[in-house]
Amino acid sequence: AKRIPVIAANWKMFKTKDEALEFIFAVNAAVPSRDEVESIICAPAILLNLLVKREGEHIRIGAQNMHYADEGAFTGENSPAQVKTAGAEYILIGHSERRSLFNETDKDVNLKMHAAFKYDLAPILCIGEQLDTREANKTKEVLDVQLDKAFEGVSKEQALKTIVAYEPVWAIGTGKTATPQMANDTIKDVRAKLSDLYGAEVAAQVRILYGGSVKPDNIESLLQESDIDGALIGGAALDHKNFLTFTKAAK
Ligand code: G3H
Repeated sequence: AKRIPVIAANWKMFKTKDEALEFIFAVNAAVPSRDEVESIICAPAILLNLLVKREGEHIRIGAQNMHYADEGAFTGENSPAQVKTAGAEYILIGHSERRSLFNETDKDVNLKMHAAFKYDLAPILCIGEQLDTREANKTKEVLDVQLDKAFEGVSKEQALKTIVAYEPVWAIGTGKTATPQMANDTIKDVRAKLSDLYGAEVAAQVRILYGGSVKPDNIESLLQESDIDGALIGGAALDHKNFLTFTKAAK
């Protein structure tokens, strides 16, 4: 089966309420239809409900993080049920900023994967290597460990609902994009690992995105590659015109 491409904007900690509204109204009617491209905005939790109430029929909304516990005394955190009932359909899990700045471990990532499935949120699982790993030719090893741990106890049916985002840490926000071929080769390795874990049929269906300094002028060459099914975009996707350019390039 053909894999439907995914364009996901990660707003990170950007945009006020008014800026979020301006963006959603600008893109609502202009994005490709849902069956051609999954166009997703991963927004700060406090803006989720606002966006869900105004989202056009072809836009989808995701969150950027959540706690894995059902509920509890965790001041400042959002529960999976809160994310779900705010109307989010997707949840970013294990973004490198969560891992490096907020000490998120592979174990946390795995617990969040299970919480996502429990609350029927589609995980966008982020993995990626640091520059020294790339330079030491250890990328595959490191990504395999991240994948093994993230998917521990995850069933085949659940794996099929997962979107994987490969983001080399050295390419995030740095203006240094992986070359399309380098990104594609690594994504092929990710698919091979999924095949080891779940079989070739599942691996052929899971969408795997590239992320890291994606811009309007490199999106097309990235999407032309055989195994790159879309992109997770930070900085450049904050601009609604760019977001539309990305979604149209994926069509
Ligand atoms: O989640 C998105 C990535 O961190 C990429 O960010 O497009 O600003 O490099 P960037």
